[in-house]
Amino acid sequence: MSVVDAALARRAAAILRAGGLVAFPTETVYGLGAAADDPRAVAAIFAAKGRPADHPLIVHVADAAAASSWTAGIPPPALELMRRFWPGPLTLVLARAARAHDGLTGGQDSIGLRCPSHPWPQALLAELGRLGSDPAAAIAAPSANSFGRISPTDAAHVRADLGEKPGGVVDLVIDGGPCPVGIESTIVDCTGDVPRVLRPGSITRAMLAEVLGALPALAGPRDPGPRASGTLERHYAPRKPLELLAGHALCARINELRNVPLAILAPAAALLDAPAQVVLRLVAEPAPERYARRLYEHLHRMDESAAQRLLISLPPDSEDWEAIHDRLRRAAAGTIDD
Ligand code: TXA
Ligand code: MG
Repeated sequence: MSVVDAALARRAAAILRAGGLVAFPTETVYGLGAAADDPRAVAAIFAAKGRPADHPLIVHVADAAAASSWTAGIPPPALELMRRFWPGPLTLVLARAARAHDGLTGGQDSIGLRCPSHPWPQALLAELGRLGSDPAAAIAAPSANSFGRISPTDAAHVRADLGEKPGGVVDLVIDGGPCPVGIESTIVDCTGDVPRVLRPGSITRAMLAEVLGALPALAGPRDPGPRASGTLERHYAPRKPLELLAGHALCARINELRNVPLAILAPAAALLDAPAQVVLRLVAEPAPERYARRLYEHLHRMDESAAQRLLISLPPDSEDWEAIHDRLRRAAAGTIDD
């Protein structure tokens, strides 16, 4: 993980305080941040991403004490989850406090709060808090990609998509190297009778169950819960048609697409005798944590390659791969044109 440059952190915090947008690394993906208290700056996030205004944002805080100034109450299970998983890749949806304006919540009565472990957001929050003499200062930040595109896990992804001013839309892009987790935080809705998972992530439902005492349900895509942009049918999508295939079906599909340039993400063994039409072959990591770390980088590379079609061999079906399956399904939804 990158070491924070203190002078750059101060400059970034000053930009945030003045209403600007700063893209920064977190342990999950790069975020596009604005001072959470500044409705105009928060509105600028939506404009920069081309994101519908009624989609709520995640608000990043330095610790649980800061979180309490943004929520009307933290129920006991949420408190337990904070104790166990914060700082880290867990977002909790809680009843909002008056401080959480409609621009952050999409007009809902709940707010998504996350305390990141990465040194860059921690440094930005500390500096922003210092500038405003407010330890509960917060940074609203969705993933730093255009709406519906592949999430960024590297500063180069942000520069290529949103870009830095004057050519792009972000005031400052902080390069903190690749994100160690690589997929977005697990989101747990704690506003109902029992917590439920709105978006799976590297903190699995089995890990949550250790704290909650029971396996939380996973809200389905058509579940009428709070709106989450990550629950749209198609999201995190490459531009090129992407197909997900069971491992045993890969070979036959490559044969069918004989004259089409392909990019393939599959276990090493499946790539050994791939024919020449395969212009990019990427080796799928055998463990979910390592697969997640490189997933978006792989999707970016496949999308930018000379391939016309992208094929991904589906990883195992077990619970620890749930978040990967979720992201792969979203990436592939609706992109096949035949
Ligand atoms: O790992 C992450 O969570 C990254 C980094 C930057 O922290 N952020 C991220 O933000 O993934 P974004 O905006 O791309 O996704 C935020 C998700 C959306 O699906 C949003 O709808 C949901 O969180 N969300 C935020 N507040 C919510 C609320 N009050 N109720 C339901 N969903 C909420
Ligand atoms: Mg996103």
